[in-house]
Amino acid sequence: MTELLLSVHVLAAILAIGPIAVAASLFPRHARQPGPTGAAALLHRICGGYAVAAVTVPVFGFATALHMGVLTDAWLLVSIVLTALAAAVLGLLVVPGQRRVMASVEAVAGGGAADPGAAAVNGRLAMATGLFNLLWAVVVVLMIVRPGSTTGA
Ligand code: HEM
Repeated sequence: MTELLLSVHVLAAILAIGPIAVAASLFPRHARQPGPTGAAALLHRICGGYAVAAVTVPVFGFATALHMGVLTDAWLLVSIVLTALAAAVLGLLVVPGQRRVMASVEAVAGGGAADPGAAAVNGRLAMATGLFNLLWAVVVVLMIVRPGSTTGA
């Protein structure tokens, strides 16, 4: 049973968080490009959609941890805090920032005026995305190294 829960947990991390990392990293550059807005819109949709799917990662993470009896291990508690921080960066900074930039990009494409703050938001997006990628990379290392853990390799 633990193997099944852990497999779903890791598969969800690869399939949900991987595409977010790639799409979020590419978004600021595509949003800056003049012309068709399709690529930036698609990247934004991938980030929002996969962010919802990524909820399965902590859900199966908690289920795995309960099954293994490691829920109060220090490495796991730190991972949970970092995962929550990564989710907050994604949900409160990255996706809403992209939404604002997209609204401006689409207004310009439709012949309207750009949002004067959108360029600054797009610049900050690159930073927020970097922070998101750093946080979950640290969590992956914690998940694999499990400092102080007596279970597994
Ligand atoms: C609330 C957040 C999370 C919880 C409660 C959680 C829980 C767990 C548990 C209990 C294990 C098994 C460790 C063992 O075999 O001793 C595990 C493994 C793993 N987790 Fe998580 N996890 C969380 C978030 C994440 C995130 C955000 C990622 C990736 C971005 C991730 C990636 C992995 C990977 C790759 C493994 C396999 C490590 C290995 O077996 O070597 N986890 N997780």
